[in-house]
Amino acid sequence: MSKEQIIIFDTTLRDGEQSPGASMNTKEKIQIATQLERLGVDVIEAGFAAASPGDFDAINKIAQVVKNSTVCSLARALERDITEAAKAIEPAPRKRIHTFIATSPIHMEYKLKMTPEQVIKKAVEAVTLAKSFVADVEFSCEDAGRSDIGFLKEISDAVIEAGAGTINLPDTVGIRMPNEIKDMISQMHAHIGKRAIISVHNHNDLGLAVANSLAAIEGGARQVECTINGLGERAGNAALEEIVMALKVREDLFNNVETKINTKEIYPSSRMIASITGIEPQPNKAIVGRNAFAHESGIHQDGVLKNKQTYEIFSPEEIGLNKDDTLVLGKHSGRAAFSDKLEKLGFKLNEDELNATFIRFKELADKKKDIYDDDLRALVTSNMTSVENAYELIALQLMDSTGGVPSAAVTIKTPEGEEITDAGIGDGTIDAVFKTIDRITGHSGRLMDYKVKSVSKGKDALASVTVQVSFNQDEPAVIGHGLSIDTMLSSARAYLGALNSYQSMKGMLKKLSSKPSEKI
Ligand code: KIV
Ligand code: ZN
Repeated sequence: MSKEQIIIFDTTLRDGEQSPGASMNTKEKIQIATQLERLGVDVIEAGFAAASPGDFDAINKIAQVVKNSTVCSLARALERDITEAAKAIEPAPRKRIHTFIATSPIHMEYKLKMTPEQVIKKAVEAVTLAKSFVADVEFSCEDAGRSDIGFLKEISDAVIEAGAGTINLPDTVGIRMPNEIKDMISQMHAHIGKRAIISVHNHNDLGLAVANSLAAIEGGARQVECTINGLGERAGNAALEEIVMALKVREDLFNNVETKINTKEIYPSSRMIASITGIEPQPNKAIVGRNAFAHESGIHQDGVLKNKQTYEIFSPEEIGLNKDDTLVLGKHSGRAAFSDKLEKLGFKLNEDELNATFIRFKELADKKKDIYDDDLRALVTSNMTSVENAYELIALQLMDSTGGVPSAAVTIKTPEGEEITDAGIGDGTIDAVFKTIDRITGHSGRLMDYKVKSVSKGKDALASVTVQVSFNQDEPAVIGHGLSIDTMLSSARAYLGALNSYQSMKGMLKKLSSKPSEKI
């Protein structure tokens, strides 16, 4: 029996990026998109082109490098959104515009202040315009989970007529139960038939996003929208790795469908995203959590030693987790072995990036005895946050704060190339460092969040610091990452990283000349 394909639509770079603290820069997004292509996802939703110049730029660059997956941009049902989306994805060999409008009574009345007839008109205009740019158009009924099924059928008929090939029915607020989703999808499937592919996009507010996606597949959905590690708005989206492994492990139940995912790339993808965003999956997270294959009790350990299948329903190798392979390179490892290892971890670096990372690897290997996969991931991803024309930390010296006033001396190279040294005091050592950086750079940042975590194992583990800093109360706070064996050095680098991101974001905004016109 030939199987039907489940289209895996990954929205880590769009809905996933909407997770608090998960914003990524263009370099990071390109690495992730390349890894998603390697993982075998069918569609990469690379962002929301009209949201910001940074989003546009990232989608456009991804469209230039991704060849096998379809590159998609989200667009509200507005003329400017759709034209920006079309421009951004233009270089991609396979491209899609994903346009949406809300269809639930509460969204139409309070958010859109539009009648159902006006909503249908706008949806049709949006799809027609999108179709004038690309052959592949997806239409989403935002908040379909709380929409009237009769209205969903009516608007779907209209947008299919206008050229939409995929109808997405999101449970935007994550309120539905699996039997309800299956019922909605079955009814829509019976109505739409082969005229369009039915897609689902489930949020996890009640912890049911994956169960709802599987129920939707049973009901006839042939596309699922999901994210790596379940990242996404609020409680997140359905986790790609859980849907894919559920379909694989329970092939006996889902024997009429298959995905094109290379499951061996699941673990590398999960680690790359955790390393870039700084958001670790919870330890007991299904499939990719740190404890997903840890057998703690004696009875379990005994069973697994005798036969792994006593307590393991699939092997770690199936998702690309090779437990024996985590201890990697040392100070004598050469450049070729280093480059080979990075490729295995899913990173594609150009010559300059490889050289810079290799130098940092050698510096680290001098100080740290064992270097693990996660150390390498952290090294590569911390390099990606560097921007051009940035402030650079040259030296940091801390005065003993035991019983005295904490103080720091800092030397920074400005974007103009001038080296400035200054010293300052603070309420604690970190406060002293950040205040001194403020004095040198002339900015005044407000620390909104500070996180430090050890990257791998050992007393000499790398300290990864993530800060969230607000440099202007009218603008969004920015994130900075810093990495070093020394926590204070990591903190200073993270703070300066946030300032550099802020400067580069301001630079981009200046380049945006025209004001949006929202005609549709
Ligand atoms: O949750 C949602 O409804 C969305 C749509 C824009 C697809 O993210
Ligand atoms: Zn969503």
